[in-house]
Amino acid sequence: MKSSAKLNSNLYIVAVIAAITGLLFGFDTGIISGALLFIEKEFVISTELKELIVSVVLLGAMFGSLLSGRLTDHFGRRRLMLIISGLFVIGTLVASFAANISGILLGRLLIGLAIGVGSYAAPLYIAEIASSEFRGGLVSLFQLAITIGILISFIINYTFINIDGSWRWMFGLGLVPAVMLSVGMIFLPESPRWLLMKNKRDEAIKILRNLRNTQDISNELNEINNTLQIKQMNFRDIFSPGIFPVLLLGAALGLIQQVTGINTIIYYSPKIFQLAGFTDTSSAIFATMGIGLVNVLSTIFAVFFIDKLGRRPLLIAGLIGMGISLLGLSWAFSSATSAANLRWIAVACTFFYIICFAFSLGAILWIMVAEIFPLSIRATAMGIAVFSCWFWNFVVSSSFLTILNAMGPSSTFLIYASMCIFSLIYCYYKVPETKGVSLEKIEDNIRNNLPLRLIGQPQVETPKTPILETIG
Ligand code: BGC
Repeated sequence: MKSSAKLNSNLYIVAVIAAITGLLFGFDTGIISGALLFIEKEFVISTELKELIVSVVLLGAMFGSLLSGRLTDHFGRRRLMLIISGLFVIGTLVASFAANISGILLGRLLIGLAIGVGSYAAPLYIAEIASSEFRGGLVSLFQLAITIGILISFIINYTFINIDGSWRWMFGLGLVPAVMLSVGMIFLPESPRWLLMKNKRDEAIKILRNLRNTQDISNELNEINNTLQIKQMNFRDIFSPGIFPVLLLGAALGLIQQVTGINTIIYYSPKIFQLAGFTDTSSAIFATMGIGLVNVLSTIFAVFFIDKLGRRPLLIAGLIGMGISLLGLSWAFSSATSAANLRWIAVACTFFYIICFAFSLGAILWIMVAEIFPLSIRATAMGIAVFSCWFWNFVVSSSFLTILNAMGPSSTFLIYASMCIFSLIYCYYKVPETKGVSLEKIEDNIRNNLPLRLIGQPQVETPKTPILETIG
């Protein structure tokens, strides 16, 4: 995070607590691969049912993300996060004490709903309370928490590997962050932007002063007020010429984050390591923990540098690195000259891939979908972008093994590598730089119909037809 300006500790604490939602996201998506090994020993279940136990969280998250726009506008960002922390607690209890598979499915569905709403509400909340110079770093705490949650789940999977019947404990440990989130959210303030939207001016001013640690908040307040003067848009308006390209950008970022293959590595790396020749399961799982650790470390880099280096350079560098790693994996599976070479090239490429994803697309998706949409359409548009991420997550993770069986590892990774190349071209031409610019300035630029690539620039140059006129 930027060091010249001073980061107020209140703001930091608020962001850290809200980011616990990410920890639950990471933990609950990562724990299932380990827990499933025990569930299938205790209950007789078909392959389809196994797949459903894994994917029900993703289905819940998809559904949750669709609902979240309306819910955050109705309840407020903070109150909604309090509600979903309760949902995490209930879902975890239902799954851990389930007497049968239906109970597990129900509990995991509730957790999925909470993850879907949380993956929308937490980045939005953090972006709205953050001041512009620290926004990228603070929102990437959400991604950092996801990676910590994934790492914890990998460690627990490894620790419990020889303890029969431990799936209840594995699910149950999710209660710790869920309760922490519930308690923490009770003390956090509401988003001043939402309060102003609801005409609660005095409360908004008080909170903003506290978050900024100064009485002089008039500039920021005016900027927010100006954007609130703009007519609220409805669903039809998102197809207007000013808004639609931004909406496509959000949905495209959700798609790109997933179709470039991150969850083939996160969910299936033991399988990839086994294919590459690590025959014993525990060394494959051990290598997977390494993936989890490197994911955390590289995300820490993003937290500190995203507001200094900017979103675009990291995104472009990350996609190039991810593409090279996937091409390397593809090459190794088809042409490596010895089993030992294949093993080590596969490990090196997988680790390099994770490093590149974590300092780029991992955090940048959540940052950008929380910053690029005008306030009046943010709820719907961000919901669509987050839905896109969960939808493509579901598509990629439920098709990976089928593609792998049908085409073999080399061609499979070649497909994901080509996705990186398309994504790189798209991002190069379309993704704006948004570092250090206020959400209101971005909105202003969109209203002035600036090309997508330029909506993050601090100075609006040639105002064209304002969006208000466009949507009539
Ligand atoms: C993605 C998840 C992924 C995780 C890995 C998140 O940003 O949305 O799908 O598993 O990063 O760190």
